[in-house]
Amino acid sequence: MVTEAIKANEQTSWTRTPLKEECPVDDVLQEFQTHRTRKEKSKAKELEQMDEKHGPSPTEIEQPAEPENELKKELTMLDLPGVGAATAEKLKEAGYDTIMSVAVASPGKLIEDVGLTEQVARKMIHAARNSFKMGFQSGEEVLKRRARVIKISTGSKAFDALLGGGFETGCIVECYGEFGSGKTQIGHLLAVNCQKQDPNAYAIYIDTENTFRPERIKELAKGAGLDPEEVLRHIKVARAYNSDHQMLLAEKVSEIIDSDKLNVRVVIVDSLTAHFRAEFIGRGTLAERQQKINCHMHTLLKVADTYNLCAYVTNQVQVDPAQFFGDPTKAVGGHIVGHASTFRIYLRKGKKGSRVAKLVDAPNLADGECNFVVNTEGLTDV
Ligand SMILES: Nc1ncnc2c1ncn2[C@@H]1O[C@H](COP(=O)(O)OP(=O)(O)OP(=O)(O)O)[C@@H](O)[C@H]1O
Ligand SMILES: [Mg+2]
Repeated sequence: MVTEAIKANEQTSWTRTPLKEECPVDDVLQEFQTHRTRKEKSKAKELEQMDEKHGPSPTEIEQPAEPENELKKELTMLDLPGVGAATAEKLKEAGYDTIMSVAVASPGKLIEDVGLTEQVARKMIHAARNSFKMGFQSGEEVLKRRARVIKISTGSKAFDALLGGGFETGCIVECYGEFGSGKTQIGHLLAVNCQKQDPNAYAIYIDTENTFRPERIKELAKGAGLDPEEVLRHIKVARAYNSDHQMLLAEKVSEIIDSDKLNVRVVIVDSLTAHFRAEFIGRGTLAERQQKINCHMHTLLKVADTYNLCAYVTNQVQVDPAQFFGDPTKAVGGHIVGHASTFRIYLRKGKKGSRVAKLVDAPNLADGECNFVVNTEGLTDV
């Protein structure tokens, strides 16, 4: 048997034509190249003729761009590199239950939350980002994306005009001002008015100061001509007991939206800074406090952008003793809050019980001021 096999093998190796002698490599290459150029020339000629007859070939016609953020292929967590059943479970436990949540995460956060190595975390994020169109976009595409922005009306024409139509979705809007300036009233109003524009809309209210009042929501709902009970049903309220709890609740927002399939249009954090201010006392803790506030605001911005909702945050003020002239009132949270907020509004009490809203920072609007009044039914012009 073995000898037969060897013989057969010898035969085949002997019967194989020695390539080098019969068709030298140079000749083969030359022939291949002339054949290719001939082929290419005839193909080019063919295309030219086709152009003359029918215009450009279908491959040359610009294909319509794919809708943005659309998945090239429906990925699951298990499709990401380095993710097995155990890691998928850990990701889920840490709140990463969609590919988007991994795509928008930073490697450091993923390492901290799930206990992965940096290499695996980077690979996973890269694959998740690749599955979405998360690269550069033309200005035109960004403009198209801006078309999805919803502006929630305040009820006051002057206030809406100051904000270019109302409180925008897809970003963080911060109101800061002294006690009684109307920050909480605006939070309640946004929770109601988002439902006026879309009856299926939901609001999430993270209440840190125990100032959420369902009775006030009922009044405002009646003012907006809505069913107060239905409006209350569409508001999810959570009381945050300390800064860590507040941060955790903000991280849970995306989970609620995904699991309950809620059409959330506004997330209210009232107040953003109160817990941080009370818990981190003294200069020694300043760096840690600012780092945490920064992280919290990042979470809110990510949620706002991912789900096209308005993240409305209220902020307290402090008096700057070094300022001798002008208004010494300053927002708490320093530059971190100021930079992270997309729109920044300073509220103060005006004449005859009115309120003054001053637009301090906006990416596309001129600074300005307006007056409005807080009524039982909502906000109105003076
Ligand atoms: N039902 C109501 N009808 C009319 N005005 C109201 C009503 N409820 C509250 N207000 C007005 O709103 C003010 C309270 O504003 P708000 O609670 O928004 O203050 P804030 O800026 O949140 O203050 P703080 O810093 O203490 O939280 C009241 O002083 C009152 O003028
Ligand atoms: Mg308040």
